[in-house]
Amino acid sequence: MAAERTLKSRPLERMDDLVSLCARRGIVFASSEIYGGINGFWDYGPLGVEFKNNLKAAWWQAVVRERDDVEGIDSSIICHPRTWEASGHVEHFSDPMVDCRACKKRFRADQLADAGPCPAREGTSEHDLTEPRRFNLMLQTRIGASEDAAALAYLRAETCQPIFNDFRRVREVSRQQIPFGIAQIGKAFRNEINPRNFTFRSREFEQAELEFFCREGERDRWFEHWLDERLRFHRALGLGPEHLRTRPHAPEELAHYCKRAVDVEFRFPFGWQEIEGIHDRGTWDLARHSEYSGKDLGVTDPETKEHYLPTVIETSVGVDRTCLAVLCAAWAEEELEGGETRTVLRLVPALAPIKAAVLPLSKKLGEPAGRLERELRRRWNTFYDDSGNIGKRYRRQDEAGTPFCITWDFDSEADGQVTVRERDSMQQERIPAAAVGEWLAARLGPAA
Ligand code: GAP
Repeated sequence: MAAERTLKSRPLERMDDLVSLCARRGIVFASSEIYGGINGFWDYGPLGVEFKNNLKAAWWQAVVRERDDVEGIDSSIICHPRTWEASGHVEHFSDPMVDCRACKKRFRADQLADAGPCPAREGTSEHDLTEPRRFNLMLQTRIGASEDAAALAYLRAETCQPIFNDFRRVREVSRQQIPFGIAQIGKAFRNEINPRNFTFRSREFEQAELEFFCREGERDRWFEHWLDERLRFHRALGLGPEHLRTRPHAPEELAHYCKRAVDVEFRFPFGWQEIEGIHDRGTWDLARHSEYSGKDLGVTDPETKEHYLPTVIETSVGVDRTCLAVLCAAWAEEELEGGETRTVLRLVPALAPIKAAVLPLSKKLGEPAGRLERELRRRWNTFYDDSGNIGKRYRRQDEAGTPFCITWDFDSEADGQVTVRERDSMQQERIPAAAVGEWLAARLGPAA
């Protein structure tokens, strides 16, 4: 098949285009679909789980593995309930909620612009709203056989609190001195009043958080350092300057624990929205957990012997939100020479769920093509597809974001060459079949 050319490319303007691609290709879709779905919960399918794992691996590599001043942990989702009293979540972690007496729907009082007209009132489309009241967002559960209040526990509302619980032990076992950080990736749960915009606001989601412990006098330097690092990370995921901006919080916006905050925002089709927050949490968390646990979480300066509570700079990114931002930025619909259109996900190779697809031109060529694919599979997540015409198979891989396709044709057996096709330019090249591994390694890294 001759190389194709793009005449026009259209970026994502309507979320529906992405939502339908994600469902059609099994990237992300409603959880419990056979029961009609469950609002605020999503499942990642075969392509989605690879993509999300790649994103988490990229974060772990940048924030934990490449640094000798950051340690990783994987804590339990349910912590001692006192954790959430100490953190302030039991008291403060709530949104203002109102009910419509007519249609019985519930809204966030600070997001009424999104409420739409009331379907249940005659003569007016306005909702008949109650006074706002606070609604705590923590999801509760009960532990053990007992139903009494003592068994009450919470699903963690953020991944950082267990980091503070583990601060003393991790510092001791890793023999780290201040400044150093502790990081983790994991599930968080919030009983959002109005989950919306696909996975953007969910009730179950993943966070990747770093708590970096430093001296008070160095807090601004570390804040700037981590803000720069995190912006560099997002750019490497393919989020360009037209999609990314930072927004410092005004003093009245700051959370109760926060001395300074900057949001990293992405331009979604539904507007600029936060994907990550960089926060100066001061000594709030260590002070509160010291008080509530009765354990001293202070450190002693090895030189001056001063005993003090470290100051915390936090970077907190939503994994699902970043996945969504990357998908939005990568999606394009292209008009090709000859009148065809294609949908393509221009994912950076590190995030692509499938790195290369091997496509024999005919099922009769399955034996040598399959051998090549099995060899590549040992190093990368690859895919074998021998069904349908070659153009359709390229389109399927374009939609999945696969950076390279390798076609085994009737000449390959005789001349030992295959055709490699690059997703974005659609350029094709003939290279020796024996050199495909090397060719891919130069573009993807030795293994991923
Ligand atoms: N430890 C600080 C903290 O949790 P946050 O601003 O509440 O701060 C951090 O959350 C990030 O977690 C957000 O920038 C967002 O990417 C993600 N996040 C928060 N709530 C979310 C939700 N309901 N659904 C999906 N992601 C969410």
